Amino acid sequence: MGWSAASWWLSSCWAPFPTASSLSCNFKRHSCCTATTPPTDFPKRSFHHPDLTRPWIQPITPSLSPSLSPSRILVVSYNILGDQNASYHRDLYAHIPSHLMKWDRRKRLICQDLRGWDADIVCLQEVDRYDDILSDMKKEGYIGNYKRRTGEAVDGCAMLWKEKLVRLLEGESIEFREFGLRDNVAQLFVFEMCKDDSRRLLVGNIHVLFNPNRGDIKLGQIRLLLEKAHALSEKWGTIPVVLAGDFNSTPQSAIYKFLSSSELNLTMHDKRQLSGQNRCQPAQFLGMPRLMRKPFPFKDKFVRYCWTDEELITATGNSKYTKLKHPLKLYSSYATLKGNVRTRDRRVEPLATTYHSKFLGTVDYLWYTDGLTPTKVLDTLPVGILRSTGGLPSKKCGSDHLALVSEFAFVQSSRDEEQQQYTASEEEEPK
Ligand SMILES: *[C@@H]1O[C@H](CO)[C@@H](O)[C@H](O)[C@H]1NC(C)=O
Ligand SMILES: *[C@@H]1O[C@H](CO)[C@@H](O)[C@H](O)[C@H]1NC(C)=O
Repeated sequence: MGWSAASWWLSSCWAPFPTASSLSCNFKRHSCCTATTPPTDFPKRSFHHPDLTRPWIQPITPSLSPSLSPSRILVVSYNILGDQNASYHRDLYAHIPSHLMKWDRRKRLICQDLRGWDADIVCLQEVDRYDDILSDMKKEGYIGNYKRRTGEAVDGCAMLWKEKLVRLLEGESIEFREFGLRDNVAQLFVFEMCKDDSRRLLVGNIHVLFNPNRGDIKLGQIRLLLEKAHALSEKWGTIPVVLAGDFNSTPQSAIYKFLSSSELNLTMHDKRQLSGQNRCQPAQFLGMPRLMRKPFPFKDKFVRYCWTDEELITATGNSKYTKLKHPLKLYSSYATLKGNVRTRDRRVEPLATTYHSKFLGTVDYLWYTDGLTPTKVLDTLPVGILRSTGGLPSKKCGSDHLALVSEFAFVQSSRDEEQQQYTASEEEEPK
């Protein structure tokens, strides 16, 4: 399959914004997200090195509102592409010149970017050379914690924070294996701003299971993370929460809906389609006559999907629950700060946070709760620019993901008001 087929797909799916003539594309774009096939015959020498500068996006109305505290906190979420993953999955990066895949080079780019952003808290996923990263970042005043995955995988999640700016109060990690939910791990840390002791927040970091067919396990992992984050936030006085990570789920997916709306009726969803990743399989869209393409699953109120007791236990924790709820009200920082039409979908999430030969789309997020508001985000890149890199990692980008970077301000709302809101939402909780 040639590059022209892939560019057809991209251009028809990525018309920047809905216009009357692009409505049919628009439908496709939102129901299928993004898919592309690597330009297998792409000549190596014609690789471009486009400008990958990413602008900051700030609210249109300046955030000088008196309800915002002057305390700001900058958080990064970055899947850095494990060194071992990069060499074990060469098929995903087959067309990337091998010197761009070398760890030393990628590490230098990753740390250079991290130094430039100068974040208070950095959440990394797919880390298998933690000591390399830490020894570089120590010079910048960071300390950190690493949680390796269980099982055979050598990578894990790492959180780094600036010792002079934030103080660690409590931390825990989650091994999902304990709950029969595979070898993935997550971290939860409670921090206090050194300059302003009254400002505390909980930061979570997760790398959700990749397997696109196991939406039930992904939901189980996310449900547990959210329950534990809620409990820890309550323990410290209902402090605000930021959840960073690679959720291996697209903005069009049921899992995104669960995160953003706090509930999901499982019987309305096919468990093999929960993460949206499967709709990104190029074969579904390319190289097949139109009529043979799999139809987009249309939502019918009367269609119900069957879930076995075992799958329900995995997803919800109980074979009697078909409706999943979580106790946090989450907002996505990138969806809050709308950005540029060339970088965002209609839901205003980024069009892409990762790009390799089998996937071009969004799976990374920075979620936050009431008590915080994003005051700026580092915009992602337009798909055209990403495409002209020929795939990530590239000369300027050390990973196959883009880092998400968001600054948050604490909202000066009275604690009592917040408390009341939480009590009210809890009353609706029992299933
Ligand atoms: C990274 O490697 C681990 C095994 O080491 C594997 O389970 C995981 O799927 C890989 N991730 C990606 C994105 O290739
Ligand atoms: C879930 O959706 C099905 C199908 O629309 C509906 O019959 C059922 O009542 C819903 N369950 C809940 C708990 O809302």
